[in-house]
Amino acid sequence: MKDFLEVGDYSASELEALLKLAVQLKLEWQSGGNRPVLGGKVLAMVFQKASLRTRVSFEVGMLHLGGNALYLSPQEIGLGQRESIPDVARVLSGMVQGIMARVFSPDHLTGLAQWATVPVINGLSDKSHPCQAMADMLTIYEHFGHLRGLKLAYLGDSNNVTYSLAEAAARFGLKFAIGSPQGYQFNETTHAYFRSLGVDLLVTDDPLKAIDGADVVYTDTWTSMGQEAEASERRKVFPPYQVNPDLLAKAAPHAVVLHCLPAHRGEEITDAVADGPQSLLFQQAANRLHAQKAILVRLMSGR
Ligand code: CP
Ligand code: NVA
Repeated sequence: MKDFLEVGDYSASELEALLKLAVQLKLEWQSGGNRPVLGGKVLAMVFQKASLRTRVSFEVGMLHLGGNALYLSPQEIGLGQRESIPDVARVLSGMVQGIMARVFSPDHLTGLAQWATVPVINGLSDKSHPCQAMADMLTIYEHFGHLRGLKLAYLGDSNNVTYSLAEAAARFGLKFAIGSPQGYQFNETTHAYFRSLGVDLLVTDDPLKAIDGADVVYTDTWTSMGQEAEASERRKVFPPYQVNPDLLAKAAPHAVVLHCLPAHRGEEITDAVADGPQSLLFQQAANRLHAQKAILVRLMSGR
């Protein structure tokens, strides 16, 4: 496959190979450095939204693999406004060997992928965040030594992160529970799509049911980028889904906590949990680097 747009575009065995590659690249880096398998190659990073982890992990990933990365801010490109998506895709294809894009509309990603002759990587859209899900699977795998059969509970807004986690849970054989309030759940078509992938899925507006016995507890912001106008309304709806010590006590005693970050401490997660003994938040953030390297090598090295 030329691009990395959705977790669900890849088969279970392809994703397992990608995870294995991430483990290998992490070990290689920890043992003195990665081989320059992307020497002379350049990744264009197109951003319509802010980023810390995605930008830094892809840029540092390219440097560690012998290549370079180019940050293109919203002002510079004006994707679909200053210049059409097909034109941006073809211009970049003439100069760089890969494109990573963070966009609002998922159509912009499929448009870039359709017109670019080089690989296109989804660095988050309003629909999904597949690179994050790969780092999350790596983190869970490192902690438990396996993925199949674990219960992953997601508490909060059914959003882009949730979407890719559902696809990853399906492909890697985790059970997935979504605890989201009414009005903030995916529609039935999307739930049916997740079930069609074979995931053992529970959707509930009861946070206690969602978290019950979970091995992994996951949360994300109540207000995603682009939804800022709804923030005060959302602050009224979501407090029962806050991952705090009381709620976490309903998960399995050995449960670990993940959050893609940035965290809004005191909203979806409390300091006691984010900085507590069950938190894997910063291992998870660091794993963006290793998971993203695997995607870069898989798509750009010709291997
Ligand atoms: N988790 C994540 O994608 O972080 P950034 O928005 O900082 O890239
Ligand atoms: N759901 C969040 C994820 C940020 C990495 C957002 O889209 O803002």
